[in-house]
Amino acid sequence: MDKLAIQGGVPVRTKPWVSKFIGGEELGQEEKERLLRVLDKKRVFRYVPEGLEDSEVGQLEEEYRRFTGAKYALAVNSGTSALICALIAAGVGPGDEVIIPAYTWVATAGAVALVNAVPVLCEIDDSLTIDPQDLESKITPLTKAIIAVHMRGISCDMDRIMSIARKYNLKVIEDAAQANGGKYKGQMLGSIGDVGCFSLQQSKVITTGEGGMVVTDSETMWQRAVLYHDGAMYQFRFTERKIPAFPGQNYRLTELQAALSLGQIGKMPAMLNKTQAVKKRLVELLRSVPKIELSPVFGTERDLGISLVFYVENSTQARETAEAITAEGIPAQLVYDPEANDQHVYVNWEFLMNKQDPWGGSYPWSSPLYKGEVHYSTESCPRTLDLLGRAVQIRLNHLIEEEDIQDIVKAVHKVVHYLL
Ligand SMILES: Cc1ncc(COP(=O)(O)O)c(C=O)c1O
Repeated sequence: MDKLAIQGGVPVRTKPWVSKFIGGEELGQEEKERLLRVLDKKRVFRYVPEGLEDSEVGQLEEEYRRFTGAKYALAVNSGTSALICALIAAGVGPGDEVIIPAYTWVATAGAVALVNAVPVLCEIDDSLTIDPQDLESKITPLTKAIIAVHMRGISCDMDRIMSIARKYNLKVIEDAAQANGGKYKGQMLGSIGDVGCFSLQQSKVITTGEGGMVVTDSETMWQRAVLYHDGAMYQFRFTERKIPAFPGQNYRLTELQAALSLGQIGKMPAMLNKTQAVKKRLVELLRSVPKIELSPVFGTERDLGISLVFYVENSTQARETAEAITAEGIPAQLVYDPEANDQHVYVNWEFLMNKQDPWGGSYPWSSPLYKGEVHYSTESCPRTLDLLGRAVQIRLNHLIEEEDIQDIVKAVHKVVHYLL
């Protein structure tokens, strides 16, 4: 144990690491039966009038209403379409700026540009979520909304974000794609801002392969999202439309996808209690290790525990640390690897950096309706790049047991001792 595995020593662990998915690992008999039931019904399109009251998509929306406490829910076919619908719901459009964190999935930035608004990048802090102080400094008279992204299962500082939003009369869209089931001060994520978005893609807490959900307390916002998610306006054959018509997409979810996901919300608390307990224990065991830093937010109620991140002194050390821990048998990654083109980091959002639209031009930045000016470069958010460049990540899930926790702790101790 006195030589690092990367230098030819004996690794801490030779057993394969636990699988990286969370809800995806739990797909089983119950889901099989639900899918077969839909096939037996031969009713795979949500809005077939016969049996509408029994629609799987409708039931999934009901589950989300109950789960989040929001008055309205709309199932869509991805987290990206949920964000686009949420922005449309919030009235964001040409001429507007929307503040987003510099660390999120590229879809957050793409959704803003797709509704013809201009994304404005904001620094994150060591919690990995948007920095409220920088957020306030990025507000201009054109700012219409903020997208608060609960990154890597960690909730944003919603008290401060909501108070800034109310002060400047801005809409808050919560992107809870990576934090389904999370809470902030006891309130479900997605239900704190004006509108909340979830993703049901494979790598998320629960999954239906591809899928998403929008929740809100506002009937008007819900109607706007419903209309935009389905230009054919099927829902309004059954519900009174109270908003003027506008063109929409087709982001409808199928009955099969909804059926696959139904009931998974019920499994979430047990999985998340486990991930949170694992993370809490890891943070307790690692907090006193020299030469690594943990955010005070890690391991608290704000943290779902789906990922362990710690900071080292610089990016060279981070790369060496991630490689050395991986060699010890625990897969570890750099959160920002300049060579990896990871679409979670703003510098890799090529369309944004170059202000490119799909037609060879520069819309919405060049729109005559946009009266502001925004510049993007690799230097736009230096604190974010510094933090992410020094961050080492180990993915966690609910299948991690005490033995695995001990292996992580041993590997981190060993690497810190012999390498840093
Ligand atoms: C923070 C964040 N926002 C939005 C999305 C988009 O979700 P989807 O992949 O379901 O379109 C993702 C998922 O990849 C995400 O991680």
